[in-house]
Amino acid sequence: MCGIVGYMGYREAYPIIIEGLKRLEYRGYDSAGIALFDGTNLKVSKTKGKVADLEDRSEKEITKTGHVGIGHTRWATHGVPNDVNSHPHLSNSGDLVIIHNGIIENYESLKQELISRGYTFQSDTDTEVLINLIEDVKKKENVKLGKAVQIALNQVIGAYAIAVFDKTKPEEVVVARLGSPLAIGIGANENEFFIASDASPFLEYTKNAVYLEDEEMAVIRFKKGIKIRKIKDDSLVDTYVQELQLNLEEIEKGGYDHFMLKEIHEQPKAITDTYRGRLLRREAIIKMAGVEDNMKKFLNANRIIIVACGTSWHAGLVAEYIFEDLARIPVEVEYASEFRYRNPVINESDVVIAISQSGETADTLAAIKLAKSKGAFVFGVCNVVGSSIARASDAGAYTHAGPEIGVASTKAFTTQITVLTLIALRLARAKGAITSSDFRHHLLELEMIPQKVEEALKSDAHIKMVADIYKDVSNFLYLGRGYNFPVALEGALKLKEISYIHAEGYPAAEMKHGPIALIDENMPIVVIATKKGHYEKVVSNIQEIKSRKGKIIGIVTEGDTQVRDLADHVIEVPETLESLSPLLTTIPLQLLSYHIAVLLDKNVDQPRNLAKSVTVE
Ligand code: F6R
Repeated sequence: MCGIVGYMGYREAYPIIIEGLKRLEYRGYDSAGIALFDGTNLKVSKTKGKVADLEDRSEKEITKTGHVGIGHTRWATHGVPNDVNSHPHLSNSGDLVIIHNGIIENYESLKQELISRGYTFQSDTDTEVLINLIEDVKKKENVKLGKAVQIALNQVIGAYAIAVFDKTKPEEVVVARLGSPLAIGIGANENEFFIASDASPFLEYTKNAVYLEDEEMAVIRFKKGIKIRKIKDDSLVDTYVQELQLNLEEIEKGGYDHFMLKEIHEQPKAITDTYRGRLLRREAIIKMAGVEDNMKKFLNANRIIIVACGTSWHAGLVAEYIFEDLARIPVEVEYASEFRYRNPVINESDVVIAISQSGETADTLAAIKLAKSKGAFVFGVCNVVGSSIARASDAGAYTHAGPEIGVASTKAFTTQITVLTLIALRLARAKGAITSSDFRHHLLELEMIPQKVEEALKSDAHIKMVADIYKDVSNFLYLGRGYNFPVALEGALKLKEISYIHAEGYPAAEMKHGPIALIDENMPIVVIATKKGHYEKVVSNIQEIKSRKGKIIGIVTEGDTQVRDLADHVIEVPETLESLSPLLTTIPLQLLSYHIAVLLDKNVDQPRNLAKSVTVE
């Protein structure tokens, strides 16, 4: 969580840092701050609130000139979001300044030690402890900043991406990472450098970037270049400069009111991009190098264990149905946060699939490390190229959703399901668990999904009308069976996170084991009742709701009449195979939560308390 940005070069640093922080606000937005060096003075401005609040504040507080600076947008871990706890933090001498994304777990003992040596602290943060520890080391050992950072980091336990500089030597910035991402953008002739949590803040300035690996630090010197070292043993690491493929348009709103709406509408393209070059319908094959190269591991696996969090976990639940149904491989789906701490039985004959949009989720990363330490083969399904989870996996397949900036995940979910469906189909074919004609039929239907998502998106105005009717309720229920049970969970999560209305997802048949007690004439219940998915059983569930006066919003297959007669509202999706139906039924649920949140005037792209990338456990 938290976004960090830095600049050192010939341009004014302020606008670059502010615009960069805005692009990273998805990572955290409860407070923001900036430190600029203008050649003589170090100027710091920081505030509780968003980057826009920081702009207002810095307007009054500082002159916005300077060619070296660092900025931060925060998602609070230690200390409430307030002005004092906001980053950047200064050392006691006022010379050193730091921004930090992560958590220093042993900060309390380090703080006591520093207090006993006369250091004082303004904030409740772990970060202020770290910068004073660096200062203490620098003085005691009489070393340069880079060395002091290195010695200090060897004393801390936790996770970090940091940028530090010394106002008495402003031509040098020191960065380091462990568990939190950090990219360095390199300008022509090394006459400018950018530092950021991801590359989006510097895309318009340079396409050349270096991504630090865990346990690495870099000393960046104006016009002199970058030196990367291992934090532990000081060994030098080769600097590998990558050329970025990302474009600026991909990270802008493109005429939509919100990133979430743009991303919902991008799904036809995102799904096509995800299966392009992998789904070869005419040849009737699926080509995925990561699966092909490890086919034996998959086919000899005792079982597949899927680890993920949040929406990605829901995609994992859909995958459980697909893998078991089509490929006949036993699957378990685990919350990464539970898996990593419950001493799971796991060994070399297990395959672990880790699903993560960001590729940075701390719990999922830790679950991978645990699985690998037990000898399991780990396959990553990530959206962000080069992310920590992608790198930590033995093999993997990217979803090609493009950048997802809205905090509520939408296109990541459908593209994850697309990749997982391709893998399941490929394995089903290799195992002979699916007939050739059934396989071809699946390929054809999957290829048609983007067009059908396009159709489903046409219900937008109708969904907005339904949203207007129910926007003021306090509770929602979402029900689905089989493949659409995880979609019910996902629909409820989407509503909760952006509208703050309480919502629960349930398998439709479980309703009578408890949630039915909640149903009265005030309770809207979204029921996914597609034609092929245990349709008659779901219709019976709808009748049970109806007789208790619940309000029914049915998600139905085009042309449905039976549910239409029973429900208060129906939203149609095109017909497809049951195994592919989550790719369509999830669309109206995304739009419903979006419209309710907008009608309630909530901050759709940056819901309270949330952050896009959960790099803390
Ligand atoms: C919900 C949402 C979160 C994420 C979860 C995992 O809309 O975005 O629940 O799905 O934090 O994130 P990733 O997929 O990046 O590991």
